Amino acid sequence: MATTTESVTPPKVTETECFIGGRWTPSVTGKTFETINPATEEVICEVAEGDAGDVDLAVDAARTAFCDGPWGKMDARDRGMLIHRLANLIERDLVELGALESLDNGKPVNDSCSADLPLAIDCLRYYAGWADKIHGKTIPVRGDFLVYTRREPVGVVGQIIPWNFPILMTAWKWGPALATGCTIIMKPAEQTPLTCLRMAKLAQEAGIPDGVINVIPGYGPTAGGSIVKHPGVDKIAFTGEHITAQIIMREAAETMKRLTFELGGKSPNIVFADSDLDAAIAGAHFGLFFNQGQCCCAGSRVFVEESVHDQFVEKLVASVKNRKLGDPLDPVTEQGPQVDQTQMDKILSYIDLGNEQGAHCATGGKRFGDRGYFVEPTVFTEVQDEMKISTDEIFGPVMSVFKFKDMDEIIERANKTMYGLAAAVWTQDVNKAHHVANNVRAGTVWVNCYDAFDAAAPFGGFKMSGIGRELGEVALDNYLEDKTVTVALS
Ligand code: NAI
Ligand code: MG
Repeated sequence: MATTTESVTPPKVTETECFIGGRWTPSVTGKTFETINPATEEVICEVAEGDAGDVDLAVDAARTAFCDGPWGKMDARDRGMLIHRLANLIERDLVELGALESLDNGKPVNDSCSADLPLAIDCLRYYAGWADKIHGKTIPVRGDFLVYTRREPVGVVGQIIPWNFPILMTAWKWGPALATGCTIIMKPAEQTPLTCLRMAKLAQEAGIPDGVINVIPGYGPTAGGSIVKHPGVDKIAFTGEHITAQIIMREAAETMKRLTFELGGKSPNIVFADSDLDAAIAGAHFGLFFNQGQCCCAGSRVFVEESVHDQFVEKLVASVKNRKLGDPLDPVTEQGPQVDQTQMDKILSYIDLGNEQGAHCATGGKRFGDRGYFVEPTVFTEVQDEMKISTDEIFGPVMSVFKFKDMDEIIERANKTMYGLAAAVWTQDVNKAHHVANNVRAGTVWVNCYDAFDAAAPFGGFKMSGIGRELGEVALDNYLEDKTVTVALS
């Protein structure tokens, strides 16, 4: 994987406007909003604040590109080639994009360049390969008929993404939408609009026709809500908080939009006494603290079998104390700031709740420094299942460690959550591993690993963690309509 070894110079910001029909334009209202560097709390730049008027223009552009432009008539294999070209351009600009991501989001540049970007490039290449392999079936029926199905693009799709993985979420959304021949109106999160806008520029350079990808930066209820309510948008793909998804579901009902949701989690990470304990500790550390704990699948509930609990905690806390916090653009930094003041305050209030409700703060527990939205990596032990830090998605560097006794107990406790996004189990016993994998109600189960992602492996949630799956072949279904053609042969 690519890594950066030298300190990265802050990148130049060149795209700050709406991208509609292949043109950069200020917002219709002329309004702008600030995007902030979370490491310094300084304004990076002003960005066009899109709203209903911009969404109207983007829907027109996307509909025209879908119905009348070259995109709709293009051979699927050529469509795939364009997605490949976009992936190649992102790879060409990897360090630049990685630095821009770190500037806007605060994540360590080494993570941007060694995780977010390679995964995004891989995702686009994976879906480029699917473009010409999407086809229907011929189906035997009663009587003298030829019946076949066509798999047609759903049309104009609205895609609304959060701030925790701006580049990667853009790739997860664009990949299957482009492969199936849809056209896109994307709204990046208001905290992190810059890399998605840069990717739109690269899409144009790759030769993806104007109007196929449109990007409207702006706020959720205004720009996002306008996409959700617009009768010219056929589908919404959303990643973010379940409460936002519930609003979207209600607002999308009027126009009967297709919906897919990838939402939050409170994922159990289960460590049996027979596991390779050092590997489990490293996995627990990475599974929660990666990306400042701002992961939908963060392993935020670590359950450790009683007999190894104290040993586990001692070594884990030592490793957490070694985490290097600092400037996201410094390649040795392991943990940057949280994305904004709101998130930092939310996390600190959960830490207060943990202390008030009687958990033991084994390390961390405070803001780090007084400039930038940094939070110390924090571990709570002696945590009980009913505490707020056990039930709520904190979305920050706060781990809760629990003790457990046996298998039946742990399955029940692991499932005692409204979420069902991910789970992990650490054991050398293949029977235990499969028992957990089969009985835990979650869309992804990792055995002796954590956060092992691949573009080909579906990802998404049970219960309140979402509807539908991203990645893999199955994600194509989100962007397709099946059409049945019946031909009388007699
Ligand atoms: P959010 O769900 O409100 O924001 C995600 C995206 O949805 C952003 O682009 C936002 O502008 C947009 N949005 C917000 N309200 C909207 C509306 N009414 N209509 C259409 N689009 C709308 O998440 P937020 O407020 O940034 O974070 C709140 C909490 O959500 C976090 O503390 C965390 O617990 C969770 N979260 C979970 C994520 C995940 O990957 N599962 C990602 C981000 C946040
Ligand atoms: Mg919100």
